[in-house]
Amino acid sequence: MDPQITVLDAGGQYCHLIARKVRELGVSSEVRSSDTAASELAGRRGLIISGGPSSVYEAGSPQIDPGILSQPETAVLGICYGQQLMAHLLGGSVRHGDRGEYGLAHLQIAQADTILKGIGSGEQVWMSHRDLVDAVPPGFEILGSTETCPIASMADPVRRLYAVQFHPEVVHTTRGREILSNFLFDVCGCVKDWSPTNQIEKLEEEIRTVAAGRRVFFFASGGVDSTVAYTLCLQALGAANVQGIYVDTGLMRQGETDFVRQVFADLGAKTFLVEDAGDQFLEALRGATDPEKKRHIIGEQFVAVQERILRSGEFLDGQWILGQGTIYPDTIESGGTAKAEVIKTHHNRVAGIQKLIDTNRIIEPLSGFYKDEVREVGRKLGLPDALLERHPFPGPGLAIRCLCTDSEAFPQRLDEGWLVPVRSVGVQGDARSYRPILAVEAVPQSETFATDTINRLAGINRVIALLGSHTQIQEMRVPAAMLDAPRLERLRIADEIVRRLSIESGFEQKIWQFPVVLIPFGTTDRPDSIVLRPVDSVDGMTASSVKIDPALAKRLCRELLAVQGVCAVFHDLTHKPPGTIEWE
Ligand code: XMP
Repeated sequence: MDPQITVLDAGGQYCHLIARKVRELGVSSEVRSSDTAASELAGRRGLIISGGPSSVYEAGSPQIDPGILSQPETAVLGICYGQQLMAHLLGGSVRHGDRGEYGLAHLQIAQADTILKGIGSGEQVWMSHRDLVDAVPPGFEILGSTETCPIASMADPVRRLYAVQFHPEVVHTTRGREILSNFLFDVCGCVKDWSPTNQIEKLEEEIRTVAAGRRVFFFASGGVDSTVAYTLCLQALGAANVQGIYVDTGLMRQGETDFVRQVFADLGAKTFLVEDAGDQFLEALRGATDPEKKRHIIGEQFVAVQERILRSGEFLDGQWILGQGTIYPDTIESGGTAKAEVIKTHHNRVAGIQKLIDTNRIIEPLSGFYKDEVREVGRKLGLPDALLERHPFPGPGLAIRCLCTDSEAFPQRLDEGWLVPVRSVGVQGDARSYRPILAVEAVPQSETFATDTINRLAGINRVIALLGSHTQIQEMRVPAAMLDAPRLERLRIADEIVRRLSIESGFEQKIWQFPVVLIPFGTTDRPDSIVLRPVDSVDGMTASSVKIDPALAKRLCRELLAVQGVCAVFHDLTHKPPGTIEWE
């Protein structure tokens, strides 16, 4: 059955987030390419055009079928680029902003009777754009503005066309949920028809259809997604038809292999195999310093190990297919939807896996679900909270938290702090950045310090604050550093300390994820520093950096600075955007 709402993907990082928010409000939704023909969308109650990295004036920028703007039974909401596209196509005008606006703004309401119903002036909204609408199309009126964006929302209620320049789908827009709800229920007349746990039977049916009598061979990571996907397969096909296998990449956290073994034993898995491939991964990664290169190598090694296992066992006889726990955000951030820029390559979307997909030898029961929906499904399947509430951990593991550099370099004094020539990945206005960091000597008072500084200094995308060190920053340098066994071990020990202390102090429950990053920055005896990156998030698409209580910071520093080779401990203050959660 067709969903009530279709989100038209104009290449925005937030496109799936919109669809998810719609589902969270109990309304079925899907994501389709922005240029989907109006005829294919007939019967939808509403369409939402997402944001995107392009400018409407760029050649090749995402387009929509103009027909969707004149279907009386279907209301349309344009978000960010969606608003600009609507203005552009209907006779308004869009201009290049003098500078981008990335971050919080306050909405002044001009007309509160439609999608802004119940929203008072002064509410916080989240902006991430450069271009803006500077004249509304004929028939439209302005609904709201912000200090730097005179047309922050516009509408033509007669034609049922609505638009916002800000992002109602992100948590930083405090009343965003109500704005979406106004659109869905008041404008579109949607009814509640969606809940993820209602889908379980259908998912199991689909698994049986795709498996078509073959058995499923499952690479388990011990994470929520792959465990829930595995359990669904186990229920749909029976334990005799599902084989679990865990690849020990040597890039995992301490104690992980034993944890995973226990989880699968408890699930009643009949067959569970552990493949030790640590040496193979490390050897392949030798000399790689570029984040995307590291990700590709890891992806290819996963495939190589998978192929080897397939070949060495009876798995090649055509009776087996590969199961995976891929979820929606994995797809979007690898450029999986048509137009999103590649921010990071995810290990399960590289060429080798694509080949398996193309030959129909793959099953991804959760590929249409979001993280919180996966947890809900898992809970319904009876999985324990200890597993479902685990912090997410990336497939490429500690490798993307162990930063490498080719040659020695030195920090440079700026007005704001120290420019440290270690580059990390970020995301700004839907595009990827790869830039050096700014290190400050103390945690600043202002919570917007990192965002403000990054908006002002074009050359950086991340700000870290010193929590403790053996040496002053001016004595430290960036040595050439590779991904090798001693540095990995150093990171693993540090990560275990952080995990233990954050569980003991109760901090772990207050945050969504706590990556610990090793950066080459220190002295000859102590060549590395540790960066703590506790973040709060709903699904990893956006995130905010979380404060560390001074008492906990002190304990962390005391133990971390005692680790062999560690010179300093920093706290990453950057939100996402403009920094990603992981550094690579
Ligand atoms: P970023 O760094 O893109 O991370 O802000 C968002 C979330 O995704 C996780 N992540 C990954 N998960 N394979 C995964 O399974 C990957 O390659 C990968 N890269 C990032 C990250 O830990 C965070 O939760």
